[in-house]
Amino acid sequence: MGVNVRGRAILSVAPCRMAAADLTEEAIMKAFVYQGPGKSALEERPRPDITAPTDAIVRIVKTTICGTDLHILKGDVPSCAPGRILGHEGVGVVEAVGAAVTAFHPGDRVIVSCISSCGKCEYCRKGMYSHCTTGGWILGNTIDGTQAEFVRTPYADTSLYHIPAGTDEDALVMLSDILPTGFECGVLNGKVQPGSSVAIVGAGPIGLAALLTAQFYSPAEIIMIDFDDNRLAIATRFGATTALNNSDGKAVEKVMALTGGRGVDTAIEAVGVPASFVTCEDIVAPGGTIANIGVHGMKVDLHLERLWDRNIAITTRLVDTVTTPMLLKTVQSRKVDPTRLITHHFTLDRILDAYETFGHAAKTNALKVIIEA
Ligand SMILES: NC(=O)c1ccc[n+]([C@@H]2O[C@H](COP(=O)([O-])OP(=O)(O)OC[C@H]3O[C@@H](n4cnc5c(N)ncnc54)[C@H](O)[C@@H]3O)[C@@H](O)[C@H]2O)c1
Ligand SMILES: [Zn+2]
Ligand SMILES: [Zn+2]
Repeated sequence: MGVNVRGRAILSVAPCRMAAADLTEEAIMKAFVYQGPGKSALEERPRPDITAPTDAIVRIVKTTICGTDLHILKGDVPSCAPGRILGHEGVGVVEAVGAAVTAFHPGDRVIVSCISSCGKCEYCRKGMYSHCTTGGWILGNTIDGTQAEFVRTPYADTSLYHIPAGTDEDALVMLSDILPTGFECGVLNGKVQPGSSVAIVGAGPIGLAALLTAQFYSPAEIIMIDFDDNRLAIATRFGATTALNNSDGKAVEKVMALTGGRGVDTAIEAVGVPASFVTCEDIVAPGGTIANIGVHGMKVDLHLERLWDRNIAITTRLVDTVTTPMLLKTVQSRKVDPTRLITHHFTLDRILDAYETFGHAAKTNALKVIIEA
């Protein structure tokens, strides 16, 4: 049992087992549901309820779509079963909290992290929230997510973040996932340094988030590589020193020429296909780091026969979101402006159009789309 924002008691039964048709209008919400490979719809679903004392119910104000949601829709993510409400990003207002939640109260405006962390298990105590033994990336994956009017967020005290008054909430939607992902998996793992050289392979929202946050460290060169001229033009506006279109297959040659034959100190892989990882292997300088961000679904060749003597490091990471509080401060102080990644706005009623737009980014020039619930 919990108490909602208007002080009404909330049923402690799990109404998700009831049919939406049996519920009063107040107990029903709109939600975007994965129905199996290639199938999805905006459905009426029962509103979520508190099921553990550490839960909160958040009324979603704004959410967005991630490339990972497109992978789910294609059937590439077996952990996400048909019937799941998608979405792992968003900001909203706390509607209700479980008895054990002390840091958040009904009415609080919050960022929902894409990673849920219990704060107590061995991985959480190491700051590796992504591997929380009872959390991690579960929202919009193994439990219902944020592309709905309401979401149940487990471990609210350690998985939600307060929104400071007056902060642009569109910008904060980018803090649920893409900004920490680009920063933690790309920039921090890649050990970007003042005066160093960086190449980012893939200029999608994640590669661009790595580009924005790499500049905290003032690298001398940031080379962006993609096939999409529009995204490369955006990268140049965002601070890339060189933008290379690899349609001619000559990006590696050009990077080597630009770096006097050395290669780059940090090669960030922000695509998730074998070819882009191999590009990173080809351009990493002796002593450098390949920081993989991409989600790989296929076997990738590791050319140790060429790399064994190069003193390089290769890192992989599922975003932990441990840097969210720090990134929030940089957004507040306008050191970084993630609203630059937002290209389209939709209402939840038009989420199918939002998916259509986001799913055809090469044609629509979409980066991140904001969906207002
Ligand atoms: N590690 C994590 O925790 C984490 C979190 C979120 C997303 N991701 C992953 O990060 C990756 C990037 O996400 P996104 O949303 O920016 O994806 P996206 O598909 O929007 O962007 C990828 C970009 O790479 C370009 N590209 C494709 N092949 C290329 C190649 N061979 N060389 C250079 N560029 C190429 C595409 O034109 C596109 O612009 C995805 O694999 C996503 O699943 C990882
Ligand atoms: Zn995501
Ligand atoms: Zn944990």
